[in-house]
Amino acid sequence: MATTATILLLVSFIGGALSQRPNIVFIVADDLGWNDVGFRNNEMLTPNMDKMARDGVILDRHYVQPLCSPSRSAFMSGVFPFKSGLQHDVIQARQSVCLPLNYTIIPQELKKLGYATHMVGKWHLGFCEWECTPTFRGFDTFFGYYNSMEDYYLHNMSGFLDFRNNKEAEWDYQGQYSAWVFTQKIVDVINTHDKNQPLFLYLPFQNVHFPTEVPKVYEDRFPNVVNSGRRIYDGMVNALDEAIGNVTDALKERGLYDNTLFLLTADNGGEIFSHGNNWPLRGGKHSLWEGGTRVTAFMSGAGLQKTGYTYDGMIHAVDWLPTLVSAAGGTPVTDRDGVDQWDSIRNGLPSKRTEFIYNLDYLVIPKEGQAGIRMGDYKLLMGYPGSQDGWHRPMNKTEDDIYEETIYDLNPDKLQLFDVMADPTERNDLSEDLPDVVAKLKTRLLEYKSQMVPPNYPDTNPNSDPTKYGNAWTPGWCKL
Ligand SMILES: *[C@@H]1O[C@H](CO)[C@@H](O)[C@H](O)[C@H]1NC(C)=O
Ligand SMILES: *[C@@H]1O[C@H](CO)[C@@H](O)[C@H](O)[C@H]1NC(C)=O
Ligand SMILES: *[C@@H]1O[C@H](CO)[C@@H](O)[C@H](O)[C@H]1NC(C)=O
Ligand SMILES: *[C@@H]1O[C@H](CO)[C@@H](O)[C@H](O)[C@H]1NC(C)=O
Repeated sequence: MATTATILLLVSFIGGALSQRPNIVFIVADDLGWNDVGFRNNEMLTPNMDKMARDGVILDRHYVQPLCSPSRSAFMSGVFPFKSGLQHDVIQARQSVCLPLNYTIIPQELKKLGYATHMVGKWHLGFCEWECTPTFRGFDTFFGYYNSMEDYYLHNMSGFLDFRNNKEAEWDYQGQYSAWVFTQKIVDVINTHDKNQPLFLYLPFQNVHFPTEVPKVYEDRFPNVVNSGRRIYDGMVNALDEAIGNVTDALKERGLYDNTLFLLTADNGGEIFSHGNNWPLRGGKHSLWEGGTRVTAFMSGAGLQKTGYTYDGMIHAVDWLPTLVSAAGGTPVTDRDGVDQWDSIRNGLPSKRTEFIYNLDYLVIPKEGQAGIRMGDYKLLMGYPGSQDGWHRPMNKTEDDIYEETIYDLNPDKLQLFDVMADPTERNDLSEDLPDVVAKLKTRLLEYKSQMVPPNYPDTNPNSDPTKYGNAWTPGWCKL
């Protein structure tokens, strides 16, 4: 009797403890600009995101890497890309590269806490061997694509299919817009989820990356936006917002919503030439300017104690692994660069971070070398900060609004210093006025540089050829 009672007690305790863990929904909005949300710019139509952000915590100083694979690697592993070899460009489809397998990633850590883990959307952390792919790295299921820049309707990249349902190439959704397909898949996951388990959904949507494509119904919601590129782009953002609304509705219908914590972030700044907008910040995607690295982000929902405010503490992409594990009630791993910011964000306390590396890809490829460090209010840039530069308002007024590339200083030794608290739009280079500050930041940067690994950016591997795999990008050719 006593034994049975004990077992029952234990079972109900474990069950109770598990069901109390929050569901976590981590949304990545691909290339979404700083100025591309309704809570910053009333040209945009993002009622769902606006409500979540306003009811939650807007993360006003949230930093990422200037490009997709590096940022996603930082989110997932908690490691700065300059230590994992992913600091240069993105992972190319034909390269024998993936996020190093020696790091556990968020779904693996959450599985240890009893979570069901599902991913719908874009991976871009390497797929050359099966071991690199989502269902081998902690996700129970995966529906989405491995690379980038694919067509929103045909789901192909460089002419070959890049769409997968777990391990199977998925040819069934030709002609269907990805935000619609993904939303349906996410709703299916929610509807079949066993409610005794906490749920982790990783939702890196395709919207709003280049190519600019959206069903006309979304574009038509912006009759006053004259420039057709910007009008389509605004529609893509609106489609993303609608998808998020549908996901939250599905969570509500299953009674999961009240115990769900949401995190939304862009992976880098807006791509200016394809109509993303980071005004008033300087620069865009690809660059270490604030417009490339300080991005739209917010948290909302379960567990937040202080809400309805803008958090101005420093948060970096690498902080999400420990922070989400902590929000889930677990003990974060400590062998990474990320710090646990959960108590800071949920209670509005000072950030646990005082510095970070924007990137370190310097002297390795001198012509394209770039390095940047932040310490407190100051930011030091060494070498080429990357394209895109300048200050651009939304190109919404005339049909001929186009983005013109500025001329860059490619001098790899150039130093620039900004006080980004006093001068968030980086207009005043202080390097000549404050040599002591420059020296201090440079010394610290060089300390980090001693931990840098060379960029893992090899030549293409001919074994990747999709024609060997039924014309779909398919793992199994790099033997890590
Ligand atoms: C275009 O962008 C500017 C600057 O953000 C904004 O003030 C204006 O309302 C926008 N125009 C339209 C038609 O949305
Ligand atoms: C993991 O692998 C990367 C890339 O090979 C290497 O630079 C790093 O030192 C390794 N880290 C650990 C903790 O083993
Ligand atoms: C996708 O396939 C179509 C039809 O073959 C082709 O015209 C288009 O260029 C492809 N797009 C991409 C991004 O691969
Ligand atoms: C959201 O749900 C509505 C109603 O079912 C549907 O019409 C719309 O296409 C959905 N949007 C997305 C992005 O899936």
